[in-house]
Amino acid sequence: MNALLDLAARQLRADLAAAPARTRERFSPEGRAARCRTIAELRALAKRSVPKPIFDYADGAAWDEVTARRNLAAFEDVTLHPKALTDVSAVDLRTTILGGEVALPIIAAPTGLTGLQHPDGEVAIARAAHRAGTITTVSTMASCTLEEVAEASAGRRWFQLYVMSDRGLVDELLARATDNGYEALVLTVDVQVAGVRERDVRNGFSVPPRISLRTLAQGVAHPRWSAGFVANPRMVPANLGWEGSASATLAASVNKAFDPTVTWDDLADLRSRWKGPVIVKGVMRADDAQRCVEHGADALVVSNHGGRQLDGAAASIEALPAIADAVGDRAELYLDSGIRRGTDIVKALALGARAVMIGRALMYGIGAAGEAGARRAFGILDAELRVALALAGYPRAADLGMDAVSVR
Ligand SMILES: Cc1cc2nc3c(=O)[nH]c(=O)nc-3n(C[C@H](O)[C@H](O)[C@H](O)COP(=O)(O)O)c2cc1C
Repeated sequence: MNALLDLAARQLRADLAAAPARTRERFSPEGRAARCRTIAELRALAKRSVPKPIFDYADGAAWDEVTARRNLAAFEDVTLHPKALTDVSAVDLRTTILGGEVALPIIAAPTGLTGLQHPDGEVAIARAAHRAGTITTVSTMASCTLEEVAEASAGRRWFQLYVMSDRGLVDELLARATDNGYEALVLTVDVQVAGVRERDVRNGFSVPPRISLRTLAQGVAHPRWSAGFVANPRMVPANLGWEGSASATLAASVNKAFDPTVTWDDLADLRSRWKGPVIVKGVMRADDAQRCVEHGADALVVSNHGGRQLDGAAASIEALPAIADAVGDRAELYLDSGIRRGTDIVKALALGARAVMIGRALMYGIGAAGEAGARRAFGILDAELRVALALAGYPRAADLGMDAVSVR
């Protein structure tokens, strides 16, 4: 009996001694991220971790958010037709993107002001993408400079351009992107004017954020986020020399700076000036896709900007088959908007995309746990995609074709 009591006491003492380390581990970014098993759980953790206006900026979409919801729902209208009796002992996610191999068919989408979710912003996403063996895309509106991201990560990088009325600034950005090894230019064509995101309007979201009693209270309620923000505030786009104005909404700042006169001539001009591949992002129609190819685009992103621009637009997965038909193998196609599950990726690849881009999945990740959260987002999708491919009977992601799906 005494021996038993002695053993229990020793066990208890050992448990108590290990408790601080276990608690530290549990609350570390890695521990927090590891407990999220799905992108939906990363989203829930991000929602708890950052102030409401910051979460809403990432999570929200235009007007009634119909297109944002449709982006998710439309994947349910694509059904899978699993192939029986194939050897799926070794599932291979590799593919080539613009001539270079990636470890998985997932690319980090450009997201502006990423540093509001976590001060490491685009640097965290670039490092996570590199570690996952894939490409990151740095936005014109990034919170980190093009140079910072290049220095922090040796992985493949693309630069996403919004054409500004100040063409001198555009020239400067292109030169900096070239000098810092950004291999492709991603021209986003669906922000002719800023979409109206009513959550941002209601929250009084501005760049830089306005400091009020309400924002101070939100800061107190999210001490971990506030500590990061105070140590390294990333409140404005870092590459544009904007001071911003706490009295101007983000939409007003965008409408002031972006050029709404951009047309096909600008695509032709950029094509002739940029030496590497040109990717047009935000294409939703087969006729536009054809015209992009005729203008020398190397790749297109079928995208409605995650439902953040024209509410009522089709889901991008709905637009993909006709575009794939029109483009054939004349350009690579990527798809974004609504990717939350490995099965979404299987469906996008089967309908003609070579890879998908993910925006919010990574925003939730870094909001939840910084770089560890971004790594977790890639990890979750990688693991889900492997199981989904095995169950669909396709050991190689690159072999997926139209016969794997039907669209209701
Ligand atoms: C917070 C946020 C900021 C974004 N900023 C940009 C941007 O600066 N440039 C751009 O081309 N797309 C931007 N996007 C759109 C993404 O690149 C991508 O098209 C979209 O997020 C895909 O949908 P998903 O979020 O459902 O994955 C942004 C998206 C989000 C969520």
